[in-house]
Amino acid sequence: MKTSKMPTKKTTATKPKANAKPKANAKSVSATRQTKATKATKTTFEKVGAALASTASFAASVARGTEDRIRDLASAVTSHPDTEAAPRATDLLISHHRKVEKLLDGVESANGSTASLLRQVADNLVAHIAIEEELFYPAVRKLDSDVILEGLEEHAMGRFALKRLLSTRSTDESLKARVKALQELMVNHHKEEEDDLFPKVRKAMSNDQLRTLGAKMKTLFDADVKRGYEAVLATFDDLPQAPVRPTAKKPSGAPRKRGAQAS
Ligand SMILES: [Fe+2]
Ligand SMILES: [Fe+2]
Repeated sequence: MKTSKMPTKKTTATKPKANAKPKANAKSVSATRQTKATKATKTTFEKVGAALASTASFAASVARGTEDRIRDLASAVTSHPDTEAAPRATDLLISHHRKVEKLLDGVESANGSTASLLRQVADNLVAHIAIEEELFYPAVRKLDSDVILEGLEEHAMGRFALKRLLSTRSTDESLKARVKALQELMVNHHKEEEDDLFPKVRKAMSNDQLRTLGAKMKTLFDADVKRGYEAVLATFDDLPQAPVRPTAKKPSGAPRKRGAQAS
C-alpha cells in the first residue's frame, strides 16, 4: 500500500503582537461581565438611592413641623417630670383659661399697639388647645364623649376666629369686634369645660393620676408655647370638608346672597 506523505504543517509558535491585549479566558470574561453587572447594579442603586434621598429630603422638609411635633410629644410622654410638684391637669387648664381671658381683656382695652398682646394670646391659646386635644381629651373622653366632641368643634371655631383676628390690621375697624367674638367664644367654651367636664374628671381620677397627666401636659404646653402658634396651628387640619350631600340647587328666581359673586 502506497502511503503518500502528507505535508506536515509547520507548527510555528505565534509571537504575541506588541501591545496586543492577552486573550481573556472564559473565567476572566465571566469575571469581567460580573464586575460590569455589579457596576451597573451599583450605579442603579446609587441612582435610586439618590432619588430616594432627594424624595426623603423633600418629605422631611415638608413634614418638619410634624417631626418636631412627634419629638415634642415623645419628650412629653417619656420624660419623667417631678409629678409631685406638677399641677393637677384640671388646675393647669383652668390657669390657662384665666390667662387667655385676661390677655384678651388686655387686647380689647388697649389703646396702642396690640401686636405683642395678640402674639401672647395666640401662643397660649393654641398651645392650650393642642394639649387638650392630644393629651387631656383622649384621657377623659369616656367620661363624657358629648362634651368632648362639642369641645373639639369649639376649638376649631376658636382657631378660625383667632386666624381672622391675627390677620386684622390694628387700624381696622373690625379689630375690636373680632377680639370680642373670640373672647365670647372662648369664655363660653371654658365655662362648659369647667362646669360640665372637669368635675367628672376630678371624681374619676386620683390626685396622683391628675398630677401625672398634668406634668405631661405642662411639658408639652411649654414646648408648644416656645415653638410659637404658627408651627402649632399648622399641625391642625382645619380645611373645610366637602359637604356630605350636595347643596340643593338655588331656585332661579331666588335673590342673590350678600357678597355672592356675579355669574
Ligand atoms: Fe378646650
Ligand atoms: Fe380648655
